[in-house]
Amino acid sequence: SMLTPKARPLAGHHALVTSGPTHEPIDPVRYIANRSSGRQGHAIAQALAALGARVTLIAGPVTIADPPGVTVLHVETAAEMLAAVRAALPADIAVLAAAVADWRVAEPATGKIKKQPGAEMPALTFVTNPDILATISEPGPLRPRLVVGFAAETDDVIAHATAKRLRKGCDWLVANDVSPASGVMGGTENEIHLISAAGIEDWPRLPKDAVAARLAARIAQELTGETP
Ligand code: CTP
Ligand code: CA
Repeated sequence: SMLTPKARPLAGHHALVTSGPTHEPIDPVRYIANRSSGRQGHAIAQALAALGARVTLIAGPVTIADPPGVTVLHVETAAEMLAAVRAALPADIAVLAAAVADWRVAEPATGKIKKQPGAEMPALTFVTNPDILATISEPGPLRPRLVVGFAAETDDVIAHATAKRLRKGCDWLVANDVSPASGVMGGTENEIHLISAAGIEDWPRLPKDAVAARLAARIAQELTGETP
């Protein structure tokens, strides 16, 4: 009945989650990457599965374990992550929490770049990586009903994140204040603002698992109208 919410409100829904960094090779032994443990994205994948969703987690290189009850696809680069996301569609829900490298080296060396005594340092030429969130947010038959992006910001967090939601075309943007003063970077807690067309929700500082559970519950409410 209306008074007894379903324990598994997302049963029958497919959720796609990206998590972790991407690694963009410089040569066979070196890469560039963003800082990301994958803890928040992995926790979201697990929380969506706990509400009954079938979850495909596309994970960049992380040291944490695959969450239980979730199909995990391991990728290295942004290009591989985009290809895996496309191959995993259709999905009802997409939560793109990965810290994707904005650039990759135009032509990674096939052999290890060696130090040359007295020689100049190697110059790296970068090209822009595809924007997975903007791509997935484009209108079309394969667009998930609910697309959720993440943004780690410093200074004017709400202003940056509000503009970013519109630029990317996603439905929700989870803005995370990572200024040094917030103390959350690399930690086990997050303090987020959920930005949607309806407005802004300021959530209290919570452990990443609790942020994940609350976000999964909000997603279930949005898609099914039921509060788990
Ligand atoms: N994202 C993505 N593909 C990229 C870059 C970012 O899918 N190539 C996604 C992230 O997973 C996140 C959101 O976009 O959900 C915001 O990432 P962010 O790095 O904050 O956005 P950018 O547009 O790269 O802006 P910035 O210049 O602030 O890095
Ligand atoms: Ca970026």
